[in-house]
Amino acid sequence: MEVRFRIFRFDPESDKEAYFRTYTVAAIPEERILDCLNRIKWEQDGTLGYRMSCAHGVCGSDGMRINGVCALACQKLVKDYTVSEEITLEPLPFFEVRKDLIVDMDRFLARIDSMRPYLVQDKDPPEKEWLQSPEDHKKVEEVIRCILCACCTGACPVMRDNPNYVGPAALVWAYRYLYDTRDGRFTSRLDKLNEPNSVWPCVNQFECTRVCPKNIPITKSINFMKQEIKKQLPGKGK
Ligand code: FES
Repeated sequence: MEVRFRIFRFDPESDKEAYFRTYTVAAIPEERILDCLNRIKWEQDGTLGYRMSCAHGVCGSDGMRINGVCALACQKLVKDYTVSEEITLEPLPFFEVRKDLIVDMDRFLARIDSMRPYLVQDKDPPEKEWLQSPEDHKKVEEVIRCILCACCTGACPVMRDNPNYVGPAALVWAYRYLYDTRDGRFTSRLDKLNEPNSVWPCVNQFECTRVCPKNIPITKSINFMKQEIKKQLPGKGK
């Protein structure tokens, strides 16, 4: 079958405005959108810019908007979109475009970094390693699946109205270390989460949860942290 792709193009170094360019490729229904993108780049237009690495939903490089919904191009198949006449590919919303489908991830990563995504301990380290029981691991096992693809952040309606919101991905990483029993900063992490642009702007639209390619219950995790703040910091939470 022939599939028509309408792809967002913008090179800040040479284009005054963004535009869409259409490409037609032969594809089978079971092929991934990423396979089609590669064929377009290798056979039709080498100037097309997008990120990819693993091609198997592991590295998180190829998050983009596919027919209006944020997703990984390597996880979506041509047959997922047969209802539409053409498949539109755009960069993740709310991110500055570096080139075509490539966005600037600096601010996104800085927000995750602001959550101190690593263990902080005052105790002397054990001889070998900090151990975690299977029960304790269970508390964080869903959120550790995050691959930093930023689909959740691109899908979040709150990001549109409040660009200062830290966003769902940063909160997933905050959750991961808040409930890691090997960490020694529970209260200060909770204080950080109680800041005005941390958990509170989330209004439960569940878009982040819907698009997460790793099925992380993001909204549920954010709500859990809101409840924790109310419980542990009386008078501080909303
Ligand atoms: S290319 Fe690595 S997640 Fe898609």
